[in-house]
Amino acid sequence: MRIQELTAEERAVYATLKPERLPEHVAIIMDGNGRWAGHRSLKRFLGHQQGAKSVQLVTETASRIGLPWLTLYAFSLENNLRRPRSEVNFLMRLLRSYLESNVQRMMDNNVRMRYIGRIHELPPEVQEKMHWAEETTARNTGTTLTLALNYGGRSELVDAFRGLAAEMKQKDLSPERITEEDIHRHLYTAHMPDPDLLIRTSGEMRLSNYLLWQIAYTEIFVTERLWPDFRGIHMLEAIADFQRRERRYGGLGESGGEGSEDPEPVKIAAH
Ligand code: FPP
Repeated sequence: MRIQELTAEERAVYATLKPERLPEHVAIIMDGNGRWAGHRSLKRFLGHQQGAKSVQLVTETASRIGLPWLTLYAFSLENNLRRPRSEVNFLMRLLRSYLESNVQRMMDNNVRMRYIGRIHELPPEVQEKMHWAEETTARNTGTTLTLALNYGGRSELVDAFRGLAAEMKQKDLSPERITEEDIHRHLYTAHMPDPDLLIRTSGEMRLSNYLLWQIAYTEIFVTERLWPDFRGIHMLEAIADFQRRERRYGGLGESGGEGSEDPEPVKIAAH
């Protein structure tokens, strides 16, 4: 942990956190780049460019507080299919230049880069740069920054089921043997814990096909702030909110259960 490297404002929020209850994995839906640009009468691409700065700054705060996993939704399968080609091409160029100019900062911050999604469908020169950044940072031991690129939660499940079906066929296993653990093993995220906290910027109350299997018990935090205005301090505020919640995983939690030994069911009269 490099708490002394936080800004004074970040340190003030960090000081309110319970260190023993920090999340292990924070996932973020980065939304609102277009609106940010629109509010300033700028072209959408300038919003994305500013959004790339937020990616770097938030990642650095994550690395300073020792967050093990940060997973950002950078580009969905749907973005790839439904946005104008010019915007998709811009996002691809932005990703390349982002990687080129930030890998050194990733090294300085001990950040390891990984990706999830149908990466093989991205342009070869983008894949090349991604591979280079992943290799260069592979031995870093701080935060793992995972970028979800050409990612969709349902297509991830399709890929997982295909992998699992092939394995079962090869091992001649019957479907009754399938467990949740088997499905987990075939997800793109097999190597990481499920997110504890999902943050969505720019106010929309949607999951947008993000990490559908993994967020079963994740706490969700939605902020009106647009992604280009989102900074490390806002992630710390989201973590503070997360720490005020009681996670129950379908159980009764810390305050539940008292006085409820074998109660008689209340009779409900039918009229
Ligand atoms: C949502 O804004 C954001 C995206 C579709 C792309 C996310 C990309 C970045 C944050 C920048 C590039 C990332 C990296 C890693 C270099 P939107 O365009 O949907 O905004 P809107 O809903 O206001 O139109």
